[in-house]
Amino acid sequence: MNKSLAFLVVLAVTIACGPKKEKKKEKFQYKRTQVEDKNDLVDDDQNQIKIILNSYDNMIYDKKTIEVKYGKNIMLTLNHKGKIGKEFMGHNFVLLKIGTDVDEFAKRAVNAKNTDYIPGGEDTIAYTKMIGGGETTTINFKAPEPGEYEYICSFPGHYNLMRGKLIVNK
Ligand code: CU
Repeated sequence: MNKSLAFLVVLAVTIACGPKKEKKKEKFQYKRTQVEDKNDLVDDDQNQIKIILNSYDNMIYDKKTIEVKYGKNIMLTLNHKGKIGKEFMGHNFVLLKIGTDVDEFAKRAVNAKNTDYIPGGEDTIAYTKMIGGGETTTINFKAPEPGEYEYICSFPGHYNLMRGKLIVNK
């Protein structure tokens, strides 16, 4: 039996067994979750990737890693799904250059209240404004050189929990 015939047989058996068994298959459910995630990361093939990053009052981002392709135009929307205002629970998205000392950057950020907690210097690739509960903000930037970049929320005390990696693939 060649491979394509074997596949057809498997397909026929799968169809014959009907949808009853589908719920039992863990793999199937896993795939479904993956598809839902893709709604937050839409690659429309016109050189633009839309990313939605959600944040909450308990100081978390809903994504610990974001994968993109080098050179693509990234449109990143940060949502603050909480209720607390930006004075006490501000969130932003700050993408740092490779090699940046995150702890040191965050320490400097604490003293940069006047500039939305973005300290001066050359450490950032892109960042959003600081937002409070119920707010949303969008930025556009080009995916940098392939590599792994850290992103954080630079509001005082947040970066230990609110950090993740932007992985840029070739
Ligand atoms: Cu924050």
